[in-house]
Amino acid sequence: MVGRYIGLTVAGLIWTATGSVAETALERGRYLVNSVVGCGNCHTPQTPTGPAPGMEMAGQFLIQNEAFKAYAPNISQDNETGIGSWSDGEIITAIRDGIRPDGTLIGPPMPFEFYRDISDTDIRAIVAYLRTVPATRNVVPRSTFNIPLPPAYGPPVTSVPDTPRNDPVRYGVYLTGPLGHCWSCHTPMVNGRQDFENQLGAGGQELDGPWGVAVTANITLHEDGIKGYSDDDIIQAITQGIRPDGSRLSPPMGFYYYSNIAADDLAAIVAYMRTVEPRPSP
Ligand code: HEC
Ligand code: HEC
Repeated sequence: MVGRYIGLTVAGLIWTATGSVAETALERGRYLVNSVVGCGNCHTPQTPTGPAPGMEMAGQFLIQNEAFKAYAPNISQDNETGIGSWSDGEIITAIRDGIRPDGTLIGPPMPFEFYRDISDTDIRAIVAYLRTVPATRNVVPRSTFNIPLPPAYGPPVTSVPDTPRNDPVRYGVYLTGPLGHCWSCHTPMVNGRQDFENQLGAGGQELDGPWGVAVTANITLHEDGIKGYSDDDIIQAITQGIRPDGSRLSPPMGFYYYSNIAADDLAAIVAYMRTVEPRPSP
């Protein structure tokens, strides 16, 4: 292929088997964090028009319910009030295992059941990007929990292989699960836990925040959900927060971040969503 040859010689870039340019870890991390992963949707103060400028990852009050009052801590590079002094390995353990350098467990709603399965390549990329987030001094109160936290979220994560990107449905599972944790919001709670097994994607969680009370949508192909949406309708809802009828979605649906998801990743997300069993809303 001519383009491939020119890319190799002129730009000196490395090409992957699928013919796309191999990104550096930092580029991959910047892309992930600012798109489908969207750590900032919780960790960056949000304004009615999106993330607060100059406050990236500086922390914010998140949510209060019967189970907890949760603050997303400052994870900017500030040494005292952020995670600037943590090693790369410590940050990886915090994200995938939910354990801080001092050994304490990090509580909900940080979605560890999904983050445990972020690949080694992607977790290193995410940390490479976090290292570039400017240090912002901002003291955030500690969360309080009225529920007992588990001793751990599972055995220590050792190694997670990459998910191949050439199978859209399989890569869509990875994008909407380990990376995007879409299902942690879009699945109904039964006895305080999401019922992933029987009601994946059926929505119905009430999320209370500065936006008021948002009920997560049913994103299965059931008539209570997105039956009848075209691929473009689904993509418009995800990336712009606009339904086919023109109505707007409320936060915490993360469309300010999802607007940066690449076209092939959106196609993979939709391909997988179309395979999820249609289920009624709770
Ligand atoms: C759904 C909201 C949410 C998302 C998304 C989220 N977090 Fe968190 N995170 C939290 C909350 C809440 C806490 C603190 C819980 C507590 O106080 O025990 C936390 C804690 C942390 C901590 C521990 C900080 C400390 O000082 O104790 C780190 C590190 C962290 N998150 C990194 C990340 C990264 C990186 C991402 C993206 C890959 C991310 N988080 C995505 C909500 C979230
Ligand atoms: C932090 C919670 C949260 C996460 C994570 C989340 N969503 Fe949402 N999503 C919502 C809420 C809340 C709504 C409904 C907003 C409203 O009704 O105003 C919504 C709405 C939607 C809709 C619109 C459905 C309709 O009724 O038209 C789609 C599609 C959607 N989400 C897909 C996704 C996908 C795909 C992901 C992962 C990339 C995702 N969501 C992640 C909270 C979330």
